[in-house]
Amino acid sequence: MPTSHWTNQSSSSSAHSPTGSHKLNLRGWWKAVHSLLRAPVIVARDTFRYFAFPFARFRGVYANFPQARAAVSWKKRIGYDHADLAHRYAAELCLSLDNSEYPVLYHLDRLVSDNCTVLDFGGNIGVHYLRYRQAVDLKNVRWIVCDLPEITKVGRQICAGMSNVVFVNDIDEIDAPAVDIFMASDSLQYVESSNLLLPRLIDRGLRPRHVLIDHLPLYDGPQFVTLQNGGLVRYPQYVFNRDAYLSRMRQLGYELVNFWDCRDFSCNIPFHPEKSVRAYTGLCFRAVLNGPQKAHPPPPRFARWC
Ligand SMILES: C[S@@+](CC[C@H](N)C(=O)[O-])C[C@H]1O[C@@H](n2cnc3c(N)ncnc32)[C@H](O)[C@@H]1O
Repeated sequence: MPTSHWTNQSSSSSAHSPTGSHKLNLRGWWKAVHSLLRAPVIVARDTFRYFAFPFARFRGVYANFPQARAAVSWKKRIGYDHADLAHRYAAELCLSLDNSEYPVLYHLDRLVSDNCTVLDFGGNIGVHYLRYRQAVDLKNVRWIVCDLPEITKVGRQICAGMSNVVFVNDIDEIDAPAVDIFMASDSLQYVESSNLLLPRLIDRGLRPRHVLIDHLPLYDGPQFVTLQNGGLVRYPQYVFNRDAYLSRMRQLGYELVNFWDCRDFSCNIPFHPEKSVRAYTGLCFRAVLNGPQKAHPPPPRFARWC
């Protein structure tokens, strides 16, 4: 039943009965109290989040990575390239598939074939390979994890004996005739020059045929950088403008095949409600065969995106 019909029915019957109008008054009263309380509650919540800066939460709006780094206390380390962090990833390695991974798994399953090459950018200690191989046959897939040195050092130990899994620290180290799938899950936002990754691959003649990006913070306002509390360390991360991101991908010669909401991933920045991202985004692109598109039609707008 349409909502408007449902609403009309209940409001007209309540207007004709004394109990109904009493309910209406109560509802109006509650609405007024709610809106009065809302602002101070939000200020209290944001003040707590700002000063406590709890684990996995965000603070600050910066123009770029250097500005964000400058805001980190000298007592805290920055970024992912730390041995203790890598060892913690290994100790806490969870091999069960999380609900949020199924969209990527779906695309991977239909895109991989024997002897193809996947570049897993920010693939950590090999987490995606280790999890996905339980659901998709990856034995004959060359899987290249590109991550930071301290992380890949541990990754090589974890994946020792898996001859199809290779670890590199920079995309220039990739020694493969082609990259069929470029995959990046929850990683591109942490890389200062992430917008150069695909152009660098393309310049080397390694244009990926498919691009799978998961857990990417996209929203409708101007791009900015924020700081995330990662416990042992702090991470600067981008929050990208959605239209500009899609437009950049089109200019690089990619068309959007599919997108999805990543509801387990959000970014709420105290005192910046307009910059908060309620759900990150997953994106699947394919290379347009005739190269970069010259004309740029307006990017699709998805009302249900936050
Ligand atoms: C939030 S973790 C995500 C890990 C994994 N992809 C996942 O979804 O669980 C971000 C990953 O990006 C990696 N990363 C950050 N900066 C990087 C860089 N410049 N080059 C390669 N990897 C990087 C980190 O080391 C880390 O493994």
